[in-house]
Amino acid sequence: MTGSIERSFHIHPGGALTGHLRVPGDKSISHRAVLLGAIAEGVTEVEGFLEGDDALATLAAMRHLGVDIEGPVEGRLRIHGVGLRGLKAPSAPLDLGNSGTSMRLFAGLLAGQSFSSELIGDASLMRRPMRRVTDPLALMGADITTAANGTAPLRIVPVNEITGIDYAMPVASAQVKSALLLAGLYANGPTRVHEPAVTRDHTEQMLSALGCPVSRQDGWIEISGPARLTSTRIKIPADISSAAFFLVGASIAPGAEVVLEGVGLNPSRIGVIEILQRMGADITIDPDPSGGGEPTGQLTVRHSPLRGIEIPVELVPLAIDEFPALFVAAACAEGETVLRGAEELRVKESDRIAVMAEGLSVLGIDVEPQADGIRITGGAFSGGQVHARGDHRIAMSFAMAGLVASGPVQIDGCAEVDTSFPGFVELARAAGLHIETAEEQK
Ligand code: S3P
Repeated sequence: MTGSIERSFHIHPGGALTGHLRVPGDKSISHRAVLLGAIAEGVTEVEGFLEGDDALATLAAMRHLGVDIEGPVEGRLRIHGVGLRGLKAPSAPLDLGNSGTSMRLFAGLLAGQSFSSELIGDASLMRRPMRRVTDPLALMGADITTAANGTAPLRIVPVNEITGIDYAMPVASAQVKSALLLAGLYANGPTRVHEPAVTRDHTEQMLSALGCPVSRQDGWIEISGPARLTSTRIKIPADISSAAFFLVGASIAPGAEVVLEGVGLNPSRIGVIEILQRMGADITIDPDPSGGGEPTGQLTVRHSPLRGIEIPVELVPLAIDEFPALFVAAACAEGETVLRGAEELRVKESDRIAVMAEGLSVLGIDVEPQADGIRITGGAFSGGQVHARGDHRIAMSFAMAGLVASGPVQIDGCAEVDTSFPGFVELARAAGLHIETAEEQK
């Protein structure tokens, strides 16, 4: 982990973004490739795996559960699947670092095992709400506990039987849905999860690819346990959540034109494109039918004047990780942008409404944070010193703001950028962002 390093970004204004770029592999799909490949029968070959700290935490935890995984070598893994019942008891608590996805998905997977386990993480992860997964898992018969305030450590004790449930999620969460489907693989009978809004469906897609039938109707997903998974090849596209920084950066920087290659275009993830296009962004999508696996394509984005909008609430779960970047776009747009129905942003790697509002104000933008969203009045960025509070997506979003600020922008608290986007600084610099980093030991 990078906990003992303090890293800051220093951006000098005036850069533009140009060129053909490929951002690293999709984080959500990388986690699922390891989790599901490990419990499949046979060897699963993965390409495009994200070698960032979060996905590597999932990979390390899987090795502690006795799974032999070769790689990663240039994004390739060979996972020697042990089958549904082949995981082994870990000798110590599983440390999932900064990764909420790892913790919540492992909670579901480990609920049905015949051994005890404990899940821990870094300071940010140990503050995040976990009852949203432990409560429904307990309804399935799991013995899983949190600390008194509903946070990790999670302690899981084996039970005789996991039973399928029919569960309506109170929040639209792909992590909760995935945890329940993973537990459902071990259950007797069907597990049906109702979602209040569409969320990313990578787990469902990968389960189908591994030979586990998934029934889906408007608003619910169902699998039947006990299930069996068979290994396959998994090709992971570039992460649209990482591409989002360049979509925003190129939209706001005069003279910019960027081509993003091989980007995952799963319909449950492309809210950021739709929101930016509604704001007036110039983004062209060229689907690549030869991608294999999840939908993939090339995105071309050119500088274009943006206007503020009311963000449709149904797009919120489809762009949930992209709001820090979208707030930067809103700050450069003409008029007001209003976001509602996004209270989930308060329980991400940081409170993204509060931390973004704080930084945008420092850079001279008028913001009105609300419990479930924010109102941003477009203006012009001044220079200044902001803090990402250890949140990778906030660090990279403010880096893009630096493109068009009237003075230098310093962003502190950037060490966690490697959780999702190793090589961000080098790639952004090569594209034309004037970015330097400074590091010190804390
Ligand atoms: C993720 C789901 C989302 C997202 C997170 C990754 C996933 O969280 O914010 O970064 O891989 O399932 P929620 O499901 O909690 O909304």
